[in-house]
Amino acid sequence: MVQMAARHDCARMFVVGDFGAWEHMPSGRRYFDVVNKAARRAGVTVYFLDGNHDKSSLLHEMYDGKPDDEGFLMCRKHVRYAPRGHRWSWDGTTFAAFGGARSTDKGWRLAREARKQEQAEKRRGYGSRRRPATSGMLWFPEEEMTDNELTDLLEANSSPVEVLLTHDKPRATEPKFNRKNKPECFPNQDRIQRLVWALRPTLLVHGHLHYRYTDIIACGGDRWTRVEGLAADPEASHHPSYIVDQSWMLLPLPHSQVQLADTASDAATG
Ligand SMILES: [Fe+2]
Repeated sequence: MVQMAARHDCARMFVVGDFGAWEHMPSGRRYFDVVNKAARRAGVTVYFLDGNHDKSSLLHEMYDGKPDDEGFLMCRKHVRYAPRGHRWSWDGTTFAAFGGARSTDKGWRLAREARKQEQAEKRRGYGSRRRPATSGMLWFPEEEMTDNELTDLLEANSSPVEVLLTHDKPRATEPKFNRKNKPECFPNQDRIQRLVWALRPTLLVHGHLHYRYTDIIACGGDRWTRVEGLAADPEASHHPSYIVDQSWMLLPLPHSQVQLADTASDAATG
């Protein structure tokens, strides 16, 4: 993806969640190093917001003291995290990022954590000095915003933005395929919907559904928000129906309604 961004002359790439922030694991730390190196070589800076499968509590623990001059947390020189509620402006276009979503496989993840814990305890019984696995390895309690968290963020700043980046979908969109059409997912989708009504973006880009779609929803008054749901990268999340060109879109800056139409056709034709 970094190389693809470079081929399209993009100086920045923004990943809308489930990026792979797993620095509690050695493989996660290596992954950040690899992305950083690829980004440096390609001349691209990689930004991301947190999905439900990113350990955002650890990102804050490790990088809160290391903001860049736009307020992103610098995980690596070329890998930067947009915390929930972060706002910034690129080339005259205003942005906000709000990560988080509900994991529908939460039960499976917790069961697997418990099984790993059991296995580690057994190994210790046999004399292994390896530290037992702990909770928070596969499922992260901070995965979705709370209502209070969102209220606080909106009370701090509810001024409009042109582009809203989220991991989860707003409740009002109606994609033809929706793997998150489940009651436990609705509270967070309602939070994203609250954001749409409060910030009135002209464009919202999100992930999480692993399905490429475009929808237009009302955002209050007679204004409309165009929503672009991006699919998953088949290299990262395997499924026979995933197509790499449906997992990204170009956003020429400064962003405007006219360019938005062009962008949609770019994305549709890949
Ligand atoms: Fe997700």
